[in-house]
Amino acid sequence: MSTFTEKAPEQELILILDFGSQYTQLIARRIRELGVYSEIRSYNTPLEEIVRLNPKGVVLSGGPSSVYAGNAPLISPDIFKLSIPILGICYGLQLITHLLGGKVGKADHREYGYAELNRLADDALFSGIDPSTAVWMSHGDKLTVMPDDFTILARTKNSPYCVIKHQELPIYGIQFHPEVAHTKQGNIFLKNFIFDICACHGLWTSRSFIEHTVQSIREQVGDEKVLCAVSGGVDSSVAARLMYKAIGKQLITIFVDNGLLRENEGEEVREMARAHFPENFQYVDAGPRFLEKLREVTDPERKRKIIGETFIRVFEDAAKKAGDIKYLVQGTLYPDVIESVSTKGPSAVIKTHHNVGGLPEDMDLEIIEPLRELFKDEVRNVGKELGLPDHVVGRHPFPGPGLAVRLLGNITEDRLRVLRKADKIFIDELHRTDHYNRTWQAFAVLLPINSVGVMGDERTYENVIALRAVTSRDAMTADWAKLPHSLLDTVANRITNEVKGVNRVVYDISSKPPSTIEWE
Ligand code: XMP
Repeated sequence: MSTFTEKAPEQELILILDFGSQYTQLIARRIRELGVYSEIRSYNTPLEEIVRLNPKGVVLSGGPSSVYAGNAPLISPDIFKLSIPILGICYGLQLITHLLGGKVGKADHREYGYAELNRLADDALFSGIDPSTAVWMSHGDKLTVMPDDFTILARTKNSPYCVIKHQELPIYGIQFHPEVAHTKQGNIFLKNFIFDICACHGLWTSRSFIEHTVQSIREQVGDEKVLCAVSGGVDSSVAARLMYKAIGKQLITIFVDNGLLRENEGEEVREMARAHFPENFQYVDAGPRFLEKLREVTDPERKRKIIGETFIRVFEDAAKKAGDIKYLVQGTLYPDVIESVSTKGPSAVIKTHHNVGGLPEDMDLEIIEPLRELFKDEVRNVGKELGLPDHVVGRHPFPGPGLAVRLLGNITEDRLRVLRKADKIFIDELHRTDHYNRTWQAFAVLLPINSVGVMGDERTYENVIALRAVTSRDAMTADWAKLPHSLLDTVANRITNEVKGVNRVVYDISSKPPSTIEWE
């Protein structure tokens, strides 16, 4: 298996050693947003590996442990001899202190939330920072004795050693979290560290990513053929577009229409392919094959299994026609591959059901993962830079089994029609009122029950549509979207008036957990 972890030699890296903080990913994202490539590794990355990676700076993240506890995650103090600038954040500061001769103990007052940071001495880290500024704290331990050869740069009421610096070496420790939005000037602190102290230039842009990835793809692939499944979603669309830019007609893209798509979706994908990766695009109309297999199936997991297996068979048939293929593209993203304390090891967290319909494992193809360095928002930016339209790069996630898991109970053409119409009205209204981009996912669900209603003077006994809209950062947890009543009102009115067979609309107000985003 080959991947794209090797960076072009000129690429600057800020290495983040992870000690298990819930904010570690946020640090990486913030630094990347400032234009410098940043990567997370576990705290126990060997020193030789750190030297090999040749970072311009190292960040020691926060973490839930106490440095003085027996099982605390530690690092070799030799890291301080490498002359690489180091920034310890929260636990990172305590670790520096612990390893360099200071003392850390339990704080009398645990500090969570806002604190006022007061500067005591000038330093490059404080360039452009107000003498007194709001920072965000989250710690139960604090420094009681400063390590040798350090000076205090700033303090808060409860943390007398809130920002400290080595007198000669570029080693900094800060107790607050510059990466969270509540630290008012957090980005300036990070900017000062990476540009002034680490001397980075800010070369990490969508354009430079595309350039270096295109080049490495060409080198790796040579004149072999590459297969890529597209789902119409952001990741596979961007991956296909990027691969096409790199290798043109050596790329074969396959889109399997499983008959469980939303209104116009198949046509939209075809249109995108025509415009952005027009050669060797195969549209496989497999709707009838899927629907036949799903007839009378109501159990959600059976639906998923049937759809997954059918997808693999259909995909294999299509791939065979494409001839001799060596590589398969997967749209894996960075959060799936981070080897860190917080995510407990590499790729353990990959959820198979998040891949494009689950791809065949026994096809004996080498995997190319052109997006494995990127966070989701970076994938969107790369997509934009590659010219993909906004409705593709800004798209909500859509599950592989499609409408099958939003159509509770039996899957029939008639019921699919009802669901598609209702869903389209909801999505159109979200776009019209500018709420689409403010929700993580939004969709209609067709319930397996009828309810009594009255239309004109007639009693009706018809379908119920549930509307689901959530806000989320990563789909692991989610909250129901507080959509305006007027919007819900319009949607409910339009659905009951325009979609024949629906006489009731309800809005789902459950969060995840305990519910899930999808209903099945
Ligand atoms: P849940 O419903 O588990 O969903 O809160 C979390 C995220 O995963 C998507 N999802 C799926 N994606 N195949 C997929 O490709 C599936 O079987 C599947 N089930 C849920 C869901 O839409 C949400 O984004």
